[in-house]
Amino acid sequence: MNNIMNKLKGSPRRYGAFDDHAQEYVITTPHTPAPWINYLGNNGFYGLFSHTGGGYSFWQDAKLRRLTRYRYNNIPADSGGRYFYLKQGHTIWSPGYRPANTELDSFECRHGTGYSKINSRLGAIRSELLSFVPLDTRAEVHRLRLSNEGEQPQSMQLFSFVEWCLWNADEDASNFQRNLSVGEVTVDGSLLVHHSEYRERRDHYAFFSVNQAISGFDTDRDAFLGPQGTLACPDVVCRGQSRNSVADGWSPIASHQLDIELAPGESRDLIFVLGYIEVAAADKWADNPPSASRQSTSAAVPYLAPAHALAHRFADNDAVERHVNALKHYWQQQLQGFHVASPEPLLDRMVNIWNPYQNMVTFNLSRSASYFESGIGRGMGFRDSNQDLIGVVHLEPTRARQRILDLAATQKRDGSAYHQYQPLTKQGNSDIGGNFNDDPMWLVFAVSGYVRETGDLSILAAPVAFDDQPDGDAALFDHLSASFQHVLNKLGPHQLPLIGRADWNDCLNLNCFSDDPDQSFQITENRQGDVAESVMIAGQFVLFGREYQTLCEQTGRTQAAAAAADAIAGMVRAVETHGWDGDWFLRAYDALGRPVGSRSNQEGQIFIESQGFCVMADIGLHNGKARSALDAVADRLATAHGIVVQQPAYSRYYPEYGEISSYPPGYKENAGIFCHANPWIMIAETRLGRGTKAFDYYTRIAPAYREQNDQQLHRQEPYIYAQMIAGKDAKRHGEAKNSWLTGTASWNYYAVTQFILGIRPELDGLRIDPCIPASWAGFSVIRRFRDATYHIEISNPDGLEQGVRRICVDGQWREGNLIPVLSGEVQVKIIMQAL
Ligand code: GLC
Ligand code: GLC
Repeated sequence: MNNIMNKLKGSPRRYGAFDDHAQEYVITTPHTPAPWINYLGNNGFYGLFSHTGGGYSFWQDAKLRRLTRYRYNNIPADSGGRYFYLKQGHTIWSPGYRPANTELDSFECRHGTGYSKINSRLGAIRSELLSFVPLDTRAEVHRLRLSNEGEQPQSMQLFSFVEWCLWNADEDASNFQRNLSVGEVTVDGSLLVHHSEYRERRDHYAFFSVNQAISGFDTDRDAFLGPQGTLACPDVVCRGQSRNSVADGWSPIASHQLDIELAPGESRDLIFVLGYIEVAAADKWADNPPSASRQSTSAAVPYLAPAHALAHRFADNDAVERHVNALKHYWQQQLQGFHVASPEPLLDRMVNIWNPYQNMVTFNLSRSASYFESGIGRGMGFRDSNQDLIGVVHLEPTRARQRILDLAATQKRDGSAYHQYQPLTKQGNSDIGGNFNDDPMWLVFAVSGYVRETGDLSILAAPVAFDDQPDGDAALFDHLSASFQHVLNKLGPHQLPLIGRADWNDCLNLNCFSDDPDQSFQITENRQGDVAESVMIAGQFVLFGREYQTLCEQTGRTQAAAAAADAIAGMVRAVETHGWDGDWFLRAYDALGRPVGSRSNQEGQIFIESQGFCVMADIGLHNGKARSALDAVADRLATAHGIVVQQPAYSRYYPEYGEISSYPPGYKENAGIFCHANPWIMIAETRLGRGTKAFDYYTRIAPAYREQNDQQLHRQEPYIYAQMIAGKDAKRHGEAKNSWLTGTASWNYYAVTQFILGIRPELDGLRIDPCIPASWAGFSVIRRFRDATYHIEISNPDGLEQGVRRICVDGQWREGNLIPVLSGEVQVKIIMQAL
């Protein structure tokens, strides 16, 4: 371990703490090891917002409707955002620390559910910035409250700053021969409007406004920054005077100047609105352009009335308070959907606040826009979004239903699916590859999760055409059948499912054989793959295939149900016969028919995915294989920071395995701790009744637990999951990467709520089957389910890990562990008993 890491280990530093009462994470310094961000917006208008005000905004689609510019991998990192500068004499500072970087007398950023607050002070001036996207609003509101806490009157200048993106973020970062000529703006009082490309095919524009008369503005970046200017010290800010520049090509920005006087004890609220407007094509231009307006060219002025109206909705502080309270109320309501009180306050914090919150973010954005996903490559992933949905279906059933239909519409008649679609158009495309043979069955998982939660079997009859048969009259159920058949139609030499390009593990590329550094593992043409098989897909087929079989039974499709049962039994046999290595489940067979994830391999002898999926599917539960597989996971894959993907890590590049062996040992799929796969093992442990073990794995990766340890080592936001943590072969073992947008969120939530706490929705009620640490004396859950709120109290006087034989529902004891579907407030009592 190198020196830096030793130092890091020796002196764990804290950068913040949870405030459970406020449901906020409080960051106490701008100098965190990485930008620690939040998401503003929940349904269409989104903003990424770092603890120093960095980030960007977009409407619906981070690629096609990017409103403000952000440069990834910048120097310094996290440059660009909704920025403010204050100037008093020669002192210039930013209330959010960046970009002026002047050290502040106090600093605190509070990230809450859908809003962030940055509070700071320098000298006598206190600043409180509140940033959020009001519900059902196509705008961010930034209220900057400035207060004079001194004895003397204070005067200062305030400058705002955002840099516009020319809509398509991909083009914006590459097509400069065009970009630098198309910029257009209009200035109308305090409303600074960006409308590049509006003269041609766009019917939308963006604006940045403030609720007061301004004493100057700039819309041209060069004029604002000056010839050698930097964001830390723009020329206009240093000289204390806007240039009233009107951009004409080059790089349009929006900056207001406000001159402010504050008497001792006085506060002033400045309300900035960053909005997005769409207008009907016929109404694009103003009939009577405002006479005072200034604009780039002599062309007509855009129709600004809707922008003024939107800005005006937040003209005063009462409106801001009303909207932020409505947003908080919305989240309060959401978070009441599932509430636990357990002996573990850190678990409660995750389940009651941060995990469902992250689930909503992943549901909204799939893998499109984070500080690691640039918002131009990946839209809504088919497998990703089907899994994300499981984390929110109890909170947003209507949106989940729509998402299912959107995803299914990108599936083809043979059951294969586009790996992603663009959120704005909902059109599937092959930009990030195709032929991932695990894709189809994730749809079954999502649909069965939706039906279990809502009881809405009618979704199965909803018409959804296949992508390649747009005029066909398919229903959603046909898509599930197509998914199921897709696996059966592609069986390999051992009657196990062919892997195709890859399964869940994008990087185990068994048909790729790439020897050209300029090829992408994900999209390059593969060999004909009729040999390489995946034991993970086999487990997935058994697990979700049973859900499919149940849906067949619930809709009276008896023959299909019987056929499904046969196919599943056949798959179980294939796994037991050809998918077992002696002590654990094999991972796959490669393109030459050789085992992968076997003792006979030199490296990559055991993998997490097939142990997780086969045991979740109860394969080997009664003949000791399941137990043996999980014991091998504990021996070989588990670390203090979570369970790694495989061992031993690949120490060199293997063309027959592809991208997995391209990563240095311990990173990403090459033996990193891929957090997404950890809950599979937790759930598998509960299938064996080992609650103590399941929960122990949970605590190794759950943010609230890790937050207590070494924040400096972990590095990413301590309130949400990251996709990965470096594995034991890496120098930076324990360091997280790729925070926020990861299937880790919904899977951990699913594991802990449905399998550890064990409150599992089924068509006919709530199954109560906790599998907890033996040390727990009990716990209680308030669970909204359809028309009822269940208050469930579970006590565990005998120190068991599992065992519910009877339940008391509203004072009546019943045998079994299913609470029926009821309405109103329902009281449930359970005493765990040995089975
Ligand atoms: C990323 C992808 C996901 C994939 C996983 C493992 O999380 O979003 O689709 O399954 O990596 O490779
Ligand atoms: C890379 C990553 C993987 C991700 C994939 C998406 O392979 O390692 O995690 O899912 O890219 O295309």
